[in-house]
Amino acid sequence: MPNKDWFETVAEAQRRAKRRLPKSVYSALMAGSERGLSYEENLASFGQLGFAPTVADKPAERDQATSVMGQPISFPVVISPTGVQAVHPDGEVAVARAAAARGTAMGLSSFASKPIEEVIAANPQTFFQIYWCGSKDHMAARMKHARSAGAVGLIVTLDWSFSHGRDWGSPFIPEKIDKEAVIAYGPEVARKPKYLMEWLKSGHLPDLGVPNMILPGDPVPTFFQAYGEWMQTPPATWEDLRWVVREWDGPVMIKGIIRVDDAKRAVDVGARGISVSNHGGNNIDGTPAPIKALRPIVEAVGSQLDVVLDGGVRRGSDVVKAVALGAKAVLIGRAYLWGLAANGQAGVENVLDVLRGGIDSALLGLGKASIHELGPDDVLIPDGFVRALGA
Ligand SMILES: Cc1cc2nc3c(=O)[nH]c(=O)nc-3n(C[C@H](O)[C@H](O)[C@H](O)COP(=O)(O)O)c2cc1C
Repeated sequence: MPNKDWFETVAEAQRRAKRRLPKSVYSALMAGSERGLSYEENLASFGQLGFAPTVADKPAERDQATSVMGQPISFPVVISPTGVQAVHPDGEVAVARAAAARGTAMGLSSFASKPIEEVIAANPQTFFQIYWCGSKDHMAARMKHARSAGAVGLIVTLDWSFSHGRDWGSPFIPEKIDKEAVIAYGPEVARKPKYLMEWLKSGHLPDLGVPNMILPGDPVPTFFQAYGEWMQTPPATWEDLRWVVREWDGPVMIKGIIRVDDAKRAVDVGARGISVSNHGGNNIDGTPAPIKALRPIVEAVGSQLDVVLDGGVRRGSDVVKAVALGAKAVLIGRAYLWGLAANGQAGVENVLDVLRGGIDSALLGLGKASIHELGPDDVLIPDGFVRALGA
């Protein structure tokens, strides 16, 4: 019997997420900054790259296994950390279960809705993500907490410029779900009965707290309290990042790099990985698509640390293009959030399966037995595509 909950593309997961979620939640999840130039370019750039498939002498089986920051993964797709609330009652725990079921690692945002202990119980291959937020004592306490919970690596995200005003409007996000919020949100939630039923069945409402931003002895802060602390923190220096690497004493990835000179500095401070990213089009608008900036960064530092590509991945062939241009793996954001909204854990598994199937199909087309055989010659790159920033 056909399974009506199954979807065959990430585009369909997005349509279902849009149908299922209240308008404000869907809009928070779409995010993007200013005119959405970077958001659009992230997607369009993959479409500008082409393939030259072969017809015979193809391998009957194709291997996708690799590793990121020392973690073996069954295919080159990792969950990017996202701090987003109220998408699904099981939140990041459902995402972690899905990632574990499909043999991959998970980035957990410090602005996520579920405590790290629950996420690691569902997927021991969890990297904890922090922003440069609060005093060094506070950061050290949060890192210590994540490490004792069992996080296998740290992601430090540095490409947020507080430039989130967007031309299509930002949703109103309440501090907590109180009487006022129920009145404000009631009408849009009432229009989404499946979403409402899911939360009613779970026996709790979204509490909009950020449990991984807790400090010893304090209550769980709200999203806005944590955001306020972040806004008041002076930006990090490279010396600060060297401190983070020492303090964590394990693999650290710097997320949000788009320039060759920054990639080299990440090597200097001891990072084990970098994520070439513009925060999914949420950094200053006009930052180029990471896939365009990838190749020069890989050429400069790819032999010294793991370079992953983050932003705009919607299909398996996008993953193959990124790996061919030198990424060890990709991180995905919205794609799995749409899967989660559409169908919980099974929806995230569905998205991962869509990507794995697409990678296999592209490898077959190109006649490659493994993702490790891919190289830049496997993609058709138009003139002017590559952006060597800060080289
Ligand atoms: C709703 C939303 C929330 C996000 N929250 C975080 C976060 O808390 N920490 C972080 O490092 N990146 C965050 N990101 C960025 C993602 O990790 C990732 O870089 C981005 O989504 C990649 O682009 P894609 O959505 O096109 O895959 C967020 C992105 C979205 C869309």
